Amino acid sequence: MSKINFVISNVPAELALAAQLIDNRDDNAHPLNHKDFYKSRAVILAKTVAGDIIGCAAIKAGEGIVGELGYLVVSRHYRRHGIAQQLTQKRIEVAQTLGISILYATIRDENVASKANLLKMGFQFWRDYLSIRGTGNIVGWYFLALTDDIDASKVMQSLVGDRIPVV
Ligand SMILES: CC(C)(COP(=O)(O)OP(=O)(O)OC[C@H]1O[C@@H](n2cnc3c(N)ncnc32)[C@H](O)[C@@H]1OP(=O)(O)O)[C@@H](O)C(=O)NCCC(=O)NCCS
Repeated sequence: MSKINFVISNVPAELALAAQLIDNRDDNAHPLNHKDFYKSRAVILAKTVAGDIIGCAAIKAGEGIVGELGYLVVSRHYRRHGIAQQLTQKRIEVAQTLGISILYATIRDENVASKANLLKMGFQFWRDYLSIRGTGNIVGWYFLALTDDIDASKVMQSLVGDRIPVV
């Protein structure tokens, strides 16, 4: 595969193309909330040398030492070449520059590819919970502590709130 570049972008036209990529994804996800997407703390794009956007991933909107990963998608023709891995590696590096101490992500149980993506990058599984949307979907919570001083269990417990664990 030819070279792919991984860049942080806040160029509106590029973000619009990335949003299109997310809108067309095939994982039955809920429709993208474009406003929230544009408020992301960081959006990383995977681009071909010709400038085509073939992958996207973000640290979602928010502030402080806790960061949420989201909006990960790789164009169908480019999958299984490690692009998601590199997008996540880049998100970890960017999180460190933003002063984030812990990253977390929520993944639908059936999304094997995304779960593997996180675990391969060193994320730890926290627990499965029932979706708060009342759909009966099982959602796994994952985290990666970036600093030694963070109490990951305490943070994760407070993030999940009163969601119902699946045992
Ligand atoms: C999930 C997704 C981003 C993975 O992108 P990718 O660039 O193909 O992933 P990578 O090549 O970096 O894969 C890394 C590892 O994840 C695992 N993996 C990736 N796709 C997989 C699949 N379809 N089935 C099983 N494992 C998979 C493998 O362990 C893979 O390593 P390997 O290729 O050496 O076996 C892509 O499949 C996608 O865009 N899916 C639809 C959108 C989506 O589900 N987004 C996430 C919502 S939370």
